[in-house]
Amino acid sequence: MSSKNNNLDIPENAKISQEIVKLLDEKDPLATQADKFKLPKDLIYLDGNSLGAMPKSVPSYVEDALLDGWSTQLIRSWNNKGWHNLPFTLADRLAPIMGAKKGEVLLVDSTSLNLFKTLVAALKMRADRVNIISDKTNFPSDIHIIQGVLDNFFPDKKLKLSGSSDEETISLIDSKTAVVTLTHVDYKTGKIRDMQKITKAAHDNGALIIWDLSHSVGALPIDLNHCEVDFAVGCSYKYLNGGHGAPAYLFVAQRHLEESQNTLTGWMGHASPFGFDINYEPSKTIEKFRCGTPAILSYLALEKSLDIFETIDFGQLRKKSQNLTQLFMQLIEENCSDYGIKIITPRDPEIRGSQVSVTNENSWEIMQALIEHNVVGDFRAPNIMRFGFTPLYTSYENVWNAVKILQKILDTGIWKEEKYATRKLVT
Ligand SMILES: Cc1ncc(COP(=O)(O)O)c(C=O)c1O
Repeated sequence: MSSKNNNLDIPENAKISQEIVKLLDEKDPLATQADKFKLPKDLIYLDGNSLGAMPKSVPSYVEDALLDGWSTQLIRSWNNKGWHNLPFTLADRLAPIMGAKKGEVLLVDSTSLNLFKTLVAALKMRADRVNIISDKTNFPSDIHIIQGVLDNFFPDKKLKLSGSSDEETISLIDSKTAVVTLTHVDYKTGKIRDMQKITKAAHDNGALIIWDLSHSVGALPIDLNHCEVDFAVGCSYKYLNGGHGAPAYLFVAQRHLEESQNTLTGWMGHASPFGFDINYEPSKTIEKFRCGTPAILSYLALEKSLDIFETIDFGQLRKKSQNLTQLFMQLIEENCSDYGIKIITPRDPEIRGSQVSVTNENSWEIMQALIEHNVVGDFRAPNIMRFGFTPLYTSYENVWNAVKILQKILDTGIWKEEKYATRKLVT
């Protein structure tokens, strides 16, 4: 079933039949993983890039932990159940999934906050330099954080924004660059940036780099230390299935642990939080990037997802992700191209994350109709429909059925019904 031009299992030049799709599911080495997640029956969930599905083991684990922890052991749980240490004990389990060592990763706060902390730390490490490089297509919160950091703390430094091509970004990096910060997989298009090449360009010019891996970790193999990355941040509620608002991760390369400092000097980052010394002395470990008390319930949920990830072969995961996205794109082209649906995700599987995005002038309405017909993706302004393909719980049949439902919505024009035009708060 291999195609000619790439290593994938989707035939490129033949019409795709339901039989082919069935065969793909039969041969899928990850097929049984879906049993580990709880999703509503008949729902085709293609939004794991925004909020991952819940592992089935979460409710009973969280309930037991709470009954024993909160209601029985109460305050003693911080010690007895190891809850105080979860930000780094769980992070140590996450570290191998991103090519980091134990002690280089922390699970705390949100991605935005972690970007703030690492950006200020990196700028102080390159105090004599004036520019921050990012790109115009970066996630808005990342750009807002950079702007806030500059306006409030470094008014003499400047933000320079490139377009989304690696070459254009690299062309902006020079001896005045303090920090380069980019999102590895573009949240809108799913395009993957060349981590190794851009990191090297930053280092060749004496700059530091911060990668936002929100759409990468859990979706594709990542090797931060192989690429010699300085800092990284990202969300754990997307492909890592930690649940709504789960703690974000923060990576600091071991070589920077001593020099980098956290501006948010809360008590949890103190060398001895329970010494209650009013003078701040930062922890010598990655814990210096803690600030306040962690929200433990989300950590417990994330722990159950890590139980699953620790058994996964990331080569298989990546191949299935590329197959699923390839299948979706080909089926869209075969069945929906008459309706002005345009794919904006890279065709090259090597630079494609685990999502496919398409544009249409009626994307909002079409996505609402899809959701009502049990296919959940999401909408990104101004005109993008985003579909995330989570290899652990998405089948090839899901992809086939999703496109059939989309085709029907387009053929019948049902999306034109007035109810689909109403905008919602979260898109
Ligand atoms: C690429 C990227 N960076 C940052 C964020 C913001 O994350 P948080 O809300 O945890 O700060 C998101 C959220 O979707 C994102 O997609």
